[in-house]
Amino acid sequence: MSMKGVPLNDKLHDYIVETFAEEDEVLREVVADTESLDIPLIQISPDSGKFLFMLIKMIRARHVLEIGALAGYSTIWMARALPEEGRVITLEINEKHAEVSMGNYKKAGLENKIELLTGSALESLDKLKDRKFDFVFIDADKDNSSNYFDKVISCMNKGGMIVCDNTLKHGKVVEEDPDVYTQGILDYNKKVANDSRVDSLLVSISDGMTISLVK
Ligand SMILES: C[S@@+](CC[C@H](N)C(=O)[O-])C[C@H]1O[C@@H](n2cnc3c(N)ncnc32)[C@H](O)[C@@H]1O
Repeated sequence: MSMKGVPLNDKLHDYIVETFAEEDEVLREVVADTESLDIPLIQISPDSGKFLFMLIKMIRARHVLEIGALAGYSTIWMARALPEEGRVITLEINEKHAEVSMGNYKKAGLENKIELLTGSALESLDKLKDRKFDFVFIDADKDNSSNYFDKVISCMNKGGMIVCDNTLKHGKVVEEDPDVYTQGILDYNKKVANDSRVDSLLVSISDGMTISLVK
């Protein structure tokens, strides 16, 4: 079987990050604090952060929604891509993660651009059902990704974009007997690949990001 594309090793990944997605002091501190506070180091990679930043700029998004804040690393990348009047709403169920995130938004000077809603994302999304978004980043409990898509699709502005992280699930999406999280991702990919309201593609950056452009 012929290999498609160039499989990424650490050296190539470092080359991309060093050339295009170097973290500043604030982002480096967010990562260091995440580790020292015993919060899992499961934030997106710097190149994925830059990817979200680029996508937000490309579609000129102003209203961004994030599902899963952790310590605020990805929120900061996204908020930095927004124009003056742009805003991010981020949803987080874990109170410690929420508190640390809010501290980090302040450190980044972005507290006026970011609103964090604590609680279950599915419940928060019900409260946000009359809002409109240009860009949604889904990165919380993977078995619910497909449910999040169902909730946010009716809130999207035309030309908006929905991005879901970990859609290669460390390669498990092509293995037999998927676990519940992998099955959640398989359901997500199948759904957005076949939903006529969006054009979608799984981009093999980091652990995979599936992007869906709303028609
Ligand atoms: C992978 S982390 C998010 C990483 C973050 N987007 C980043 O890249 O910096 C997933 C986060 O989703 C949160 N989460 C899990 N289940 C959730 C739910 N049902 N509602 C809201 N947040 C949830 C977790 O507490 C965790 O902080």
